[in-house]
Amino acid sequence: MKVLVAYYSETGNTEKIAKAIHEEASKDHNSSIKKLKELEVSDLDNYDLIFLGSATHSSDLAKPVLNFIKEIPEKSNFKLAGFVTHAVYLPSENEEITASHNKWAGRTSQTFKSLQDEKGIDFIEFYSCMGAPSPPIEEFIQTSVIPTEEQYNQYMEIVRKHPNEEDIKNAQEFAKRVLNKIA
Ligand SMILES: Cc1cc2nc3c(=O)[nH]c(=O)nc-3n(C[C@H](O)[C@H](O)[C@H](O)COP(=O)(O)O)c2cc1C
Repeated sequence: MKVLVAYYSETGNTEKIAKAIHEEASKDHNSSIKKLKELEVSDLDNYDLIFLGSATHSSDLAKPVLNFIKEIPEKSNFKLAGFVTHAVYLPSENEEITASHNKWAGRTSQTFKSLQDEKGIDFIEFYSCMGAPSPPIEEFIQTSVIPTEEQYNQYMEIVRKHPNEEDIKNAQEFAKRVLNKIA
């Protein structure tokens, strides 16, 4: 199967996940990895399966990815899987954390899924994990998202380690599941 891992990453977090997926896909398939800016939408037709990745910006996929997917024609033949990294906590049992995640990163999976509803593209699965924010975003999170200094410090202690080895392992499990589903 011809596989493409395409991604948009500004500070390297999404790129780490993209490389892990590519490594997994290369085991049994002809896999290529490309930055989004190296691609034209028409290149996608050369592949059977595309893993498309993005950093989360303004609660959704980054603008270059949104612009790119707008150009994807209806009923394209390739299958699609999506992945993102985001700076907010992952959803958990804690309602506050889940609500914050939904507000700041929840739209990313819906945007991918809407390609299925709106363009008839076969969307297989979505993966997300945390990714350390860059300094300007840290400041935004501190002033506008996390109310107290104590909570902010706890958050930073955790988020700055991501994506970590477990995220990489989970991304490879995700890749394996997707590949098995359509092989
Ligand atoms: C301009 C900008 C906007 C961002 N907006 C969000 C956001 O709305 N929600 C979120 O969870 N993370 C947000 N982030 C954090 C990034 O999604 C996160 O750090 C991600 O791992 C960065 O990926 P990259 O290293 O591949 O660029 C934002 C980052 C930038 C630079």
